[in-house]
Amino acid sequence: RQVPLKEKSIVFIGFMGVGKTTIGKLVAKKLYRDFVDIDVEIEKEFNMPVSQIFDEIGEQAFRQREKEIIIEQCRQKLRIISVGGGAFLQEEIRKECLSSCIVIFLDLSWESWKERISMIIDSRPVLKGKTIEEIEELFYKRQDVYSAHHSKIQTDHQEVEEVADYIVNSLK
Ligand code: S3P
Repeated sequence: RQVPLKEKSIVFIGFMGVGKTTIGKLVAKKLYRDFVDIDVEIEKEFNMPVSQIFDEIGEQAFRQREKEIIIEQCRQKLRIISVGGGAFLQEEIRKECLSSCIVIFLDLSWESWKERISMIIDSRPVLKGKTIEEIEELFYKRQDVYSAHHSKIQTDHQEVEEVADYIVNSLK
């Protein structure tokens, strides 16, 4: 049976550090729904931070669990789900999310993102050792994947509360 639109889970996608978790949590609170951060679920399972999983167990194992947990969560109703910035590069994840959930791409300009880099870089293994030019290239390459099929919300110069309210209202 098809899940009615109002009961579908919502998935937040977008580049590292754009605010998927912060905004997702706010939206969940405003809608009285459960919030799930996929990275946190993976960290709980492995009992270590994402950067340590990448170092000690490897990215492949991380990506495998990421896929399984997202598919499992997407099939639940009424969840608010924040997925890691790399998740949508996996076709199976894209397909599952787009068929079972409402997908929202949180967009931020490169200029605004760059201002936050020092808060983001240390905990993100994917960015480790990359030059700013390499990060910029990755940013735009990923942007194409995120913007391909989904509702996009521009978050530049907006408070997280405003963005969350806008999302909640647009779902009504
Ligand atoms: C990743 C993004 C991270 C995390 C991991 C890999 C990526 O999540 O899943 O470090 O490949 O973009 P956030 O987008 O929440 O930082």
